[in-house]
Amino acid sequence: MNATQQVPATVAVIGGGRMGAGIAQVFAVQGTHVSIAESDSAAAEAARSRLTDTLRKAAERGKLAADLDVVLDRIVVVDEIGKLPADAGLVVEAVPERADLKIAVLTKAEAVVGEDAVLASNTSSLSIGELGAALDAPSRFLGMHFFNPVPASKLVEVVYGPDTAEPVVHRAQEWVRALGKTDVVVRDSPGFATSRLGVLLGLEAIRMLEEDVADAKAIDTAMELGYRHPMGPLRSTDLVGLDVRLAVAEYLQTTLGDRFAPPQLLRDKVAAGELGRKTGRGFHDWK
Ligand SMILES: NC(=O)c1ccc[n+]([C@@H]2O[C@H](COP(=O)([O-])OP(=O)(O)OC[C@H]3O[C@@H](n4cnc5c(N)ncnc54)[C@H](O)[C@@H]3O)[C@@H](O)[C@H]2O)c1
Repeated sequence: MNATQQVPATVAVIGGGRMGAGIAQVFAVQGTHVSIAESDSAAAEAARSRLTDTLRKAAERGKLAADLDVVLDRIVVVDEIGKLPADAGLVVEAVPERADLKIAVLTKAEAVVGEDAVLASNTSSLSIGELGAALDAPSRFLGMHFFNPVPASKLVEVVYGPDTAEPVVHRAQEWVRALGKTDVVVRDSPGFATSRLGVLLGLEAIRMLEEDVADAKAIDTAMELGYRHPMGPLRSTDLVGLDVRLAVAEYLQTTLGDRFAPPQLLRDKVAAGELGRKTGRGFHDWK
């Protein structure tokens, strides 16, 4: 591994939820010292136990190259952004998907870390340009869109905004590769590359159900075997959550146009509480 393929020595993560804890884990496994700022004490406790559990299971399966205790010792959880390390080379925010909240934590973090640090958002949909505009130095800000679950997911979308400096994009790409993942570079635009295509396919599959073209199992099997998709579009919608899909489709409709208009069947299912795997029923039965 040459110098440019190394992860930063120190990384700060803001938000210790599902994504933040996963991002902390993958950096710590590679040797990074990670500090997670988590404002909710119960969530901080949950992050600690989730990290311990997943890393222990990985060690038991022989999938953890480093010593479990050494990796765990590299991760600390703090209760406020002011306590994040000033020498962090990268800050990744993973707080809930609200622009005002993300701007508040990013501007706070910008005041804590040095001038050379890169600031990143794990947003799935918000505009990198709009978030970056609130910073003193938007040139060092970009999107690093990790996927869930972070340790098992191979992809990170690296999203550059109108002000992101090119060397910052290159550094992010190198870090993604040092994590053993694959980067795709995407210009800041609604839905980036993944949601824009994935959601459109899911919506068309729902319209096909409405038109009685085939049943859910047949539509999914057609894409799985015919197009070698690992999972059909309706099963995938069930896993993401129909409510989450509906919210993203509504956002993409307002930003990209009516081809993202949510089908009535999706609205009806959400209204009926059929949200997919998490409620036991969506387009498929999960009980
Ligand atoms: N869950 C997914 O599948 C997924 C996938 C890709 C990207 N994302 C994006 O990642 C981000 C986080 O998603 P998540 O699913 O991990 O959410 P989550 O709700 O599990 O975690 C967010 C955490 O941020 C904490 N938080 C809130 N305000 C804070 C503050 N001011 N300071 C510090 N911590 C604070 C919350 O207490 C919570 O623990 C969102 O932008 C989401 O769109 C999520």
